[in-house]
This record gives sequence, structure tokens and C-alpha cells, in this order.
Amino acid sequence: MARVRRSLLFMPGDSLRKIEKATRLPTDSIIMDLEDGVAFSRKAEARATIVEALAGLDFGSRERLVRINPVGSGLETADLDAVMTGRPDGLVLPKVESAGQVQKVSEALARVEHAQGWPAGAVRMLVIVETALGVMNVREIAAADDRVDALMFGAEDLAGDMGATRTAEGWEVFYARSAVVTAAAAYRRQAIDTVFVDLNDMDGLQRECQRAMQMGYTGKMAIHPRQVEVINAAFTPSAEAVAQARRLIEAHARQQAAGAGAFAYEGKMVDMPLIRAAEQVIARAGLVGSGS
Ligand code: COA
Ligand code: MG
Repeated sequence: MARVRRSLLFMPGDSLRKIEKATRLPTDSIIMDLEDGVAFSRKAEARATIVEALAGLDFGSRERLVRINPVGSGLETADLDAVMTGRPDGLVLPKVESAGQVQKVSEALARVEHAQGWPAGAVRMLVIVETALGVMNVREIAAADDRVDALMFGAEDLAGDMGATRTAEGWEVFYARSAVVTAAAAYRRQAIDTVFVDLNDMDGLQRECQRAMQMGYTGKMAIHPRQVEVINAAFTPSAEAVAQARRLIEAHARQQAAGAGAFAYEGKMVDMPLIRAAEQVIARAGLVGSGS
């Protein structure tokens, strides 16, 4: 069964203090960064710190992920060689623009798994689409490899790449945000929404989570401890939503038994698409253990 990834908290890989802090937060995944959160002069230090953290800290049930530098940056091989000695649960790949880049990392992981005697395919991949070319190629990226559990949408880098200005409403990245979640659904991957950079605007974060969830996203990246609980709550179906979904499914079963496909329920037309949506709400709630 797919791992639950509502909140995925980033921290610079050279900060053992922040990694340690994250192991005590209710975040589903911890992303130790080697890319843009780490200065060029500190990449080696960060690799060593991440290996130390993987070996020495108790992460509990939290997923242990490492974001390496982009394929083609010249840093990715050293990143991979170093961090795989700590056996993370998965890698996050930034600025992915082609299936070939995903496959290259997957093949490297396969070699490590084989050499270490780990199960084939055990190390997972989450890929960030955050450039114009990545958005254009999102379909081949989503389809690239069975190791890919999730597509992540990166709005800040994309805006930079496109010459767009970020706004609260986010229309400048709406096409891309929609393309990523659609490709993820088509290939049965999870979809993770972009970071929310205003560390103090909890209402804004909550609204953005709500919108992302309405679009079909299943989780959101976090960059500060205080964002984690807001994100978890937003991506966990409420008890009320679960109860409503159950009532709908029961009503549908009664109508089917009576020979009706479509029917009116609480003033609205209900047929199969709504039932599938209700089943998804219940499936999500089951995964995170809420509202039962
Ligand atoms: N993960 C874990 N702990 C974090 C954290 C994070 N992402 N961000 C902050 N903290 C910790 C701090 O260490 C501090 O704990 P301490 O007082 O015990 O040291 C506490 O939470 C409060 O932090 P605060 O003072 O509010 O923030 P800051 O000024 O120290 O840091 C940022 C602000 C933006 C630098 C920091 O939140 C951060 O590093 N975020 C992630 C950046 C990143 O990884 N970017 C790349 C991906 S987009
Ligand atoms: Mg980025």
C-alpha cells in the first residue's frame, strides 16, 4: 500500500539540529536537502551530516528522504554515492525535465540495491517538476519508472524559469500545477504541492492546502515546523467528510439495488463519478486513520 505523504518537511542537509528537530515533529516525510538549501561550499559537509543522521537518529515511522542535486549538475553522482551508504527510504530529484534523467537515477539505485543485497525497487523516488521544460514533459516523467511514487510541483523555481511573478492567487502557475496533478493521476502517482514561503501566514497556508486538495493533490511540502500540523490537518479528511461519503455510498447502494444509476440526493444529482470521489475520501481517511 502506498505510503501516506501529507506533509514533507525540508531542511538543509548541513543542519543536524534541524534534522534532529524534524524527527520529533508529526511530519510524514523528512527531506534532507543537498540542493538549493545548501551553499555550494557546504555540499560535502551536508552529505556527511545526512549520512550521520541516517545512521544515528531515530526517525520513527517518518520517511527518510534525501534531495540530491539535479541530474546533469555534476554533483549528483557524489551525492548519490555518499547518501546511499546511509540507506534512505527514497530520493527526491529536483528540476526533472525528462524520463531519461529519472531512469538514470533509477538504474544507479538498482546497482546499489543489487550490490547491497537490498530488495529490488525498495528505494523510492519522488520527482520535482519545476521548470518550463519539465512541465512540457510531465507525461513522460510521470511514466518514466516504477520507482516514482510521487510528482512534486515546484512553483518558485518555475516562476523564475518562466519570468513569471508569484502571486497569492497563483494563476501564473495554474496551468503547471494542474498539469502535474493530472499527469500524477494518469499514472497513479501521488501529487505533492509546492512550498508556501510565508512562514507566518497560517491562514494563507491553510487556504492554499485546501485549493491543492480540491485539485487532487494529496500532500504539500513544508519548510518550517509550524507548517506541518496545518498541512496534515488539511490533507486528512474530516470526520464530517467521511460520514458524508459513507452516507452517499449507502444511498447509492440502495438506489442500485432498486435499479437506479443516477439519483437525487440532498438536492444534487449523484451518479458514479461522485461515488468514486466518495470512495477516495474513505480510502484516504483509512490510510491516515481518521474519522472511522
Ligand atoms: N526543519 C526542522 N527544523 C526547523 C526548520 C526546518 N525546516 N526550520 C526551522 N526549524 C527550527 C529551528 O532550528 C528552530 O529551532 P531551534 O530554536 O531549536 O534551533 C525553530 O525551528 C524555529 O525556527 P525559526 O527561528 O522560526 O526559523 P529560522 O530563522 O531558524 O529558519 C529558515 C528559517 C527558512 C531558514 C528555516 O525554516 C529553514 O531552513 N527552512 C527550510 C529551508 C529549505 O530546506 N529550503 C530548501 C527547500 S525549499
Ligand atoms: Mg527548487
